[in-house]
Amino acid sequence: MSSITINGEAHEFSGDPNMPLLWYVRDMLNLTGTKFGCGAGVCGACTVHLDGVAVRSCQTTLGEAAGKTVTTIEGLSPDGEHAVQQAWRKISVPQCGFCQSGQIMQAASLLAKNRAPSDAEIVEAMSGNICRCGCYQRIHEAVRLAAG
Ligand code: FES
Repeated sequence: MSSITINGEAHEFSGDPNMPLLWYVRDMLNLTGTKFGCGAGVCGACTVHLDGVAVRSCQTTLGEAAGKTVTTIEGLSPDGEHAVQQAWRKISVPQCGFCQSGQIMQAASLLAKNRAPSDAEIVEAMSGNICRCGCYQRIHEAVRLAAG
């Protein structure tokens, strides 16, 4: 039996420690804001925070997350008013929206460690999050706005 804190709540699990964290949050906890894109660690749709750092939940096992703190898009802020979420709304970033929770979690992790990223740092930090609609200009603009 291991424990993971997800969005401020402790969860005990006794299943396969090799289960991807993505399946646990989506299928066991019904936190479906975290998306399954590629399942191979290359698209970023499944991005969550593990102890405050952006990780790909499809490539993070429950065993690796045991004893740690996970934040999903549902727990990023209690009211959807995180600075990144505000900027996303203001700029109307999404087109189809599928990748957006991963994008927002990646951006929030960047700004948590670097309050004033340069354009190059924004592009670099967001480069692993793929948007099939090609909304990259608005994504980068929203990160700049959130950084203030
Ligand atoms: Fe995890 Fe694509 S679903 S990186």
